[in-house]
Amino acid sequence: MSKLIIANWKMNPDSLSAANKLFTNIKKTALTTRNITTVIAPPLVFLASLAASTKARRIQFAAQNTHFADSGPQVGETSVKQAKDAGASYTLIGHSARRANGETDEDVSRKVAAALAAKIVPVLFVGETERDVHGNFLRVVRSQIKRAFADVPASRVKDVVVCYEPVWAISTSGSGKDITLSEVHQMMLYVHKVLVEMFGLSVARKVKMLYGGSVNKDNAADIFAIPGVEGAVVGGASLNALEFREVLQAANKS
Ligand code: PGA
Repeated sequence: MSKLIIANWKMNPDSLSAANKLFTNIKKTALTTRNITTVIAPPLVFLASLAASTKARRIQFAAQNTHFADSGPQVGETSVKQAKDAGASYTLIGHSARRANGETDEDVSRKVAAALAAKIVPVLFVGETERDVHGNFLRVVRSQIKRAFADVPASRVKDVVVCYEPVWAISTSGSGKDITLSEVHQMMLYVHKVLVEMFGLSVARKVKMLYGGSVNKDNAADIFAIPGVEGAVVGGASLNALEFREVLQAANKS
């Protein structure tokens, strides 16, 4: 199955010209890595312009957030239809940076449903803030999954992409701890198990699962070799076209 690599640029870079430059450099690799789909999640203010500059199917775009309402008085928010109109075919939902700013499981669930209704792919983020020796972090992840999928009918489950991204392993989170390959593997199995409990094996196996958190040129090949990892969300390393090229090439070879 072809891998999905999402470049989560977060609130970078500073200008449209810098975004164009970064995208142009990434595009060179993304056009030649035939076994993968590269998704760029730029700041929304740059998305329409970048998306208009390419028609290549293996390069897609994502909004970093979308609202659950179709339209209305939500100041500073973007609807799924607006993101889609700007050129996004994916939307990131429930990223830990947004959860830290007050986004609730209920919001996440409604946002997933709104994305599915508008036929744009929701990339659902789940992941614990910290690990504890008693395994409570498993309950956290289980509950995030259960609540996010609460209103998703079994027939649409396959249209959701799930990214397991432990907050403590994000490059800028400051914990300084690295996740091990076996910990990533265990969590891929765990996320899959929760989906199997909810929807059964035949539905759960159709859900694409990604890993996110400090994926870079040095660990990409090992991460993509883990069973169950079907792609990655890449933050910091996606802001450097040379480094991101190595991540894309590792995914392309895996
Ligand atoms: P990172 O960020 O790759 O810099 O750890 C990933 C993310 O937050 O999506």
